Amino acid sequence: MEIKAIDLDRVRSILNKHQDEKWGLIPVLQEIQEAFGYIPPEMILPVAEALHVFPSQVQGVVTFYAGFSLDPKGKNVVKVCRGTACHVRGGRSILRFVKRELSLDEGETSPDYQFSLETVACLGACFLAPTMMVNKTYYGRLSPPKVSSILNQYGKNEKE
Ligand code: FES
Repeated sequence: MEIKAIDLDRVRSILNKHQDEKWGLIPVLQEIQEAFGYIPPEMILPVAEALHVFPSQVQGVVTFYAGFSLDPKGKNVVKVCRGTACHVRGGRSILRFVKRELSLDEGETSPDYQFSLETVACLGACFLAPTMMVNKTYYGRLSPPKVSSILNQYGKNEKE
């Protein structure tokens, strides 16, 4: 998958909707991230101009909130839980297995933009430990074979 080209019309329509809304910064950034999978750095200035805030404020919000990213992410974002409940149920070996399967370290994206790998402090589903999420779907009571079949559903083998 290639990084989505920046569709300026789409950006313009998001900005027009929130023009002059000083408090619209987070909703605007959420919409841009939803549309492109990340906040393209070249969007910082137009967003700041449309909302009459400083570019440094936009940059500050993007870097402060973990939900926003200035780097393009993969089509499938895998989040492995590294919280205590998951840890005691083998979460660390699940993470090791996912890393090996995807040939990625935490915070990395595959060169074909198929997968990104992240870890989170708790996915809020401790009763299903060990857990992970792929995009918006939760997976629990993980074992290496289960992880392998989940990743295959997301096209893991297509990259080989
Ligand atoms: S510790 Fe893993 S879901 Fe809560």
